[in-house]
Order: sequence, then C-alpha cells, then structure tokens
Amino acid sequence: MTTIAFSLNGRAVQAEVEAGTRLIDLLRESFDCTEVKEGCGEGECGACTVLLDGRPVTSCVLFAWQAHGRTVVTVAGLPKQELSRIQEAMVGQGAVQCGFCTPGFVLSIKALLDSNPTPTRGEILAAVSGNLCRCTGYERIARAVEQLTRQGGSPCAP
Ligand code: FES
Ligand code: FES
Repeated sequence: MTTIAFSLNGRAVQAEVEAGTRLIDLLRESFDCTEVKEGCGEGECGACTVLLDGRPVTSCVLFAWQAHGRTVVTVAGLPKQELSRIQEAMVGQGAVQCGFCTPGFVLSIKALLDSNPTPTRGEILAAVSGNLCRCTGYERIARAVEQLTRQGGSPCAP
C-alpha cells in the first residue's frame, strides 16, 4: 500500500492505494464519486472521463497513484454555473438521452472551451472523439458546443 495525496474537486485528499488500484475505483469507492461512470473499462468509451490537471483522461486506464500530487476534477467539481451552462446547451440541443455518457462529454467540452473558446466543427469533433454516445450521435453534441461558443463571453449567457 502507498499513501497518495491529491486535490479532488478542490479539496486536498489522501488515500491508501495498492499499486494496481485504478483511479476510477478509488474515486467511486473511496470518495463516492459515482458520477464517474464505468462503461468499457478499456479506455475506449470516455464514460469515466475526469480532468487531470485540467486535461480529460480516462480514469479506468489510469492507476490511482498517477493522481499523486495532481488535481482531479469530476463533473461534480465544476462550478455550478459552468456545469449548468454546458448541461443546458446539451439538453437544449437534444444531446442528452440516457445520460450515461454526459458527465464525460461535459468534461471534454469544458476542457476544449478552456483551451479554445471558438473551436471549429472539426476541433469540436476531435475534442470529443474519445467519448462515445450510443443515443444521440455527434451532430447534436457538436451543435451544443457551437451554441456555447456563440454564448462565450456574453454577460447574458446563462
Ligand atoms: S470506462 Fe473508461 S473509457 Fe470506457
Ligand atoms: S445519451 Fe445515452 S450514451 Fe449518450
């Protein structure tokens, strides 16, 4: 067992982990971060996406010890206004159905817009290429991001 320390959704936390403990298991089982979903368990679907130092990663293929000294953000750790804004755009464009993929998409979209507030359609599709949605298809998700892009910077944005 190793003790690791990291920032989780803005809080300093510590945990005892085995060398082979996956980050997704640590988050779900030790910190009740059940918003981090497990789909494929192989790094392919993006349901388990979290932000590690601001970049989207698939937590099912990372070891927990890899979070040591770093910053982890789940969808529950986003500022409420920012989360609402992304969710409302996705719902408004019909980009949420079963919702299983949504936390991962929200984090990939947030990371995209943080680094590139005016992405092209191609950049949007590239940014969410690691997230699979079996319900809505990517057209609606891309439209939601384009809606957010149009709202970007406006003091009237929700
Ligand atoms: S559960 Fe991690 S990528 Fe699918
Ligand atoms: S909304 Fe069901 S998988 Fe995306």
